[in-house]
Amino acid sequence: MTGNAPLLEIRDLRTWFPVRRGLLNRLVGHVKAVDGVSLHVMGGETLGLVGESGCGKTTLGRSIAGLERPRSGQILFQGTDMKVLSRAERKRAARHLQMIFQDPAASLNPRLTVLDALTEGLQEHGLLEGSREAEGARLLAEVGLPPEALYRYPFEFSGGQRQRISLARAISLRPALVVCDEPVSSLDVSVQAQVINLLMDLREKHRLSYLFISHDLSVVRHLSDRIAVMYLGRIVEEGPAETVMGSPLHPYTQALLAAVLAPGQPRGRKLVLPGEPPSPLNPPSGCPFHARCPKAMDQCRLDYPPASATETRRVHCHLYPPRVPDPAPLLAP
Ligand SMILES: Nc1ncnc2c1ncn2[C@@H]1O[C@H](COP(=O)(O)OP(=O)(O)OP(=O)(O)O)[C@@H](O)[C@H]1O
Ligand SMILES: [Mg+2]
Repeated sequence: MTGNAPLLEIRDLRTWFPVRRGLLNRLVGHVKAVDGVSLHVMGGETLGLVGESGCGKTTLGRSIAGLERPRSGQILFQGTDMKVLSRAERKRAARHLQMIFQDPAASLNPRLTVLDALTEGLQEHGLLEGSREAEGARLLAEVGLPPEALYRYPFEFSGGQRQRISLARAISLRPALVVCDEPVSSLDVSVQAQVINLLMDLREKHRLSYLFISHDLSVVRHLSDRIAVMYLGRIVEEGPAETVMGSPLHPYTQALLAAVLAPGQPRGRKLVLPGEPPSPLNPPSGCPFHARCPKAMDQCRLDYPPASATETRRVHCHLYPPRVPDPAPLLAP
């Protein structure tokens, strides 16, 4: 892979869920959870993904991790389209791409001891060097847990400790990218800071890239190099973390920031903006944010805004017309 090629590139990805109704289980439509997302993550980079509840963040993360089957689009990981790989090749490639969840129970089988949880992947991929116990203890030490934890079950640990174990499991296969879906949202604030510090230490030590999904903008800002803002299945704004947070362009990003920065707001709560987000089952025409947008114009009800992009920043909003490239120089007669 060349230095400038993205580690992960997503092109026009769509993941829809069929909706069936009635006795005959008739297909009545689709929830367009991810509806035309393009993104990239560079090696060693953290991309923060933010947006209100239900906008499709988890579905996007699960699609990247191979846990949902996209309906169309491409996921290129380390330059290879995952779809064209055979099952065995996909399995081999997938170890470089791990996911951790808000609820660590989703990544930890309650019937497996920590030792089994940490070493089953290594055994499956033939990567176990030395004894299982030694490798398990080494992984636990990386996440700040003592070796005695190896012989216990997930339910015997606190939420923060369980998230440490899921992280140890995720890094056991030496991945290049970890999709972190709200990894600290269910933890107490004091424990959140410890797990965030651990995420940053591991990132540094193993040169990990993260796709970091969270509704907590202060955490995302702290951790991310770049931020993508998602609304109703699409990315509406994307750019360097400091620029997106410091001078948001899209009225939706501006509203998100205003809601979070309003005085007296408790940190880490779910993002709630005035007005209901429209249903992804029946998205409105034009820009899906138009009904809630204080700056909506006639055009916003009609057409989806094309990207207006500079080298580092992209926004989909009719307030910012796309840049017209310079005309090609005329050939001399
Ligand atoms: N398995 C599924 N079947 C049908 N619909 C689904 C499924 N999973 C998610 N959805 C729907 O897809 C949309 C996006 O959901 P998703 O969980 O990806 O959002 P999210 O941004 O992660 O929300 P949150 O912040 O609450 O975690 C929602 O309307 C949700 O109801
Ligand atoms: Mg989610």
